[in-house]
Amino acid sequence: MSLLTKIDHPLVEHHLCTVRDKSTSCSEFRTAIERLAVLVGVYATEDLITQPTTIQTPIAAANCHKLAMPIGLVPILRAGLGMVHPLQNLLPDASVWHLGLYRNEETAEPVGYYDKLPSRGAPSVALVLDPMLATGGSVEMVISRLKSWGVNEIRVLSIIAAQPGIDRVERDFPDVKLYVAAIDPELNEQSFIVPGLGDAGDRIFDTPQNG
Ligand code: PRP
Repeated sequence: MSLLTKIDHPLVEHHLCTVRDKSTSCSEFRTAIERLAVLVGVYATEDLITQPTTIQTPIAAANCHKLAMPIGLVPILRAGLGMVHPLQNLLPDASVWHLGLYRNEETAEPVGYYDKLPSRGAPSVALVLDPMLATGGSVEMVISRLKSWGVNEIRVLSIIAAQPGIDRVERDFPDVKLYVAAIDPELNEQSFIVPGLGDAGDRIFDTPQNG
């Protein structure tokens, strides 16, 4: 069974036009990423375990369900920060754990530069946030770190993923669930997603390439 979910939804298609368009402004880009993150987030949380509880409404008792497990949001710096607020709105009790990586421009290999995971207290479920999954190297480094921390269940939320990166993560971590808004076919010689959206971190934070 594939653990890949590609979200088919008219709103996803619509907002993908905005993030792909090179003429989209920085603030419009950020907003569209947030809208897409909500849509991906709804699908990525649809089977979270809940427990029954009784709530007293102003009128009567109501049988309800609450989330039963601690959930952690793990944005991959920088670009993953653009998906934190929308996911925090959906999951207000979730913790946020930061891991910083950048890709070496020549090798496209991820380089870790920030790790703020505590020694204990790993959440049951971690939602890894990054708008782009290209070669898959960055996400794989984060998955390995989360597994060594003790996270039981890892779900990766991405806006645009390249097929080669998906294939790599599915091969190396067949237990990890992937939720993506779009799947693009290939990478170029600089390991950028084609057609993709450019560099999400640069577009979210308005830093020109190498700027
Ligand atoms: C981008 C992107 C992912 C990574 C994807 O980050 O946000 O983290 O590259 O590439 P991969 O799948 O080939 O590893 P980048 O290195 O540009 O850092 P940034 O978020 O600081 O811009």
